[in-house]
Amino acid sequence: MADEIRFDDGDAYEDFMGRWSLLAGNAFLDWLSPAQGLRWVDVGCGNGAFTELLVRRCAVEEVQGIDPSEGQIAFARERLARAPATFRQGDAMALPYADGTFDAAVMALVIFFVPQPARGIAEMVRVIRPGGGVCAYAWDILGGGFPYFALQDEMQKLGQQPLWPPSVEAARIDALRQSWTDAGLIDVVTTELVVERTYADFEAFWSACRKGPRIAPRLSELPSGAVDGLKARLRERLKAAADGRITCSARANAVRGRKPD
Ligand SMILES: C[S@@+](CC[C@H](N)C(=O)[O-])C[C@H]1O[C@@H](n2cnc3c(N)ncnc32)[C@H](O)[C@@H]1O
Repeated sequence: MADEIRFDDGDAYEDFMGRWSLLAGNAFLDWLSPAQGLRWVDVGCGNGAFTELLVRRCAVEEVQGIDPSEGQIAFARERLARAPATFRQGDAMALPYADGTFDAAVMALVIFFVPQPARGIAEMVRVIRPGGGVCAYAWDILGGGFPYFALQDEMQKLGQQPLWPPSVEAARIDALRQSWTDAGLIDVVTTELVVERTYADFEAFWSACRKGPRIAPRLSELPSGAVDGLKARLRERLKAAADGRITCSARANAVRGRKPD
């Protein structure tokens, strides 16, 4: 599908989303405060941005990462070559693990990509042991929390409809609470995570924008001159500090729950 969002380049992903992922991941772990030494499955691990945080902050016994994109996984394998981390290709809706394999399962910025989120959640519940935890966080896309909301908004004004993943509704905070409860999880709690990223200047921000999946091709479809106008409006909107730096904020919804004993 030409307009499907795919992350195939772990390096480009790093600037576009990996750094945002780290910010949100740190805020998420501050909130979650998980025990040390657990066995984790990181569903939709991508290039390992969140997996690395788990390893660094949670002294994991092991973490298994799974993602459909070989390009992303190759980056993750290299990044975590010396960690107790294993990566394989696969889909959230059919996890290749036996029942009760892990202590905890996480989806970091993934649930909106899963075509049937309820199946993905049921799979996380299946592969953790009784008493284990299932958690996730995802940009509040429909609530304007996506880090590149301003860009999407300006592109929309030029007739380019935002290219959203297939299950954006699933990332709403009420939807997360409901899905976790429907999956039979208990002690379900949700929260909002607000993070900020500072770019050295507008061009650094713009360069990161262009690394997003399908953003550069879509910009090239705009009439000549339109991109300059769009950049000017973004500059105005994002208001650089005196030293030229640009600070953007984003908001993710997070959820956690426990599988009954
Ligand atoms: C925004 S990235 C998040 C990557 C990583 N978790 C992070 O925090 O940086 C979304 C990831 O979801 C993966 N993905 C898309 N569809 C998926 C599916 N059906 N099952 C598992 N992962 C999927 C993509 O390949 C991509 O790596």
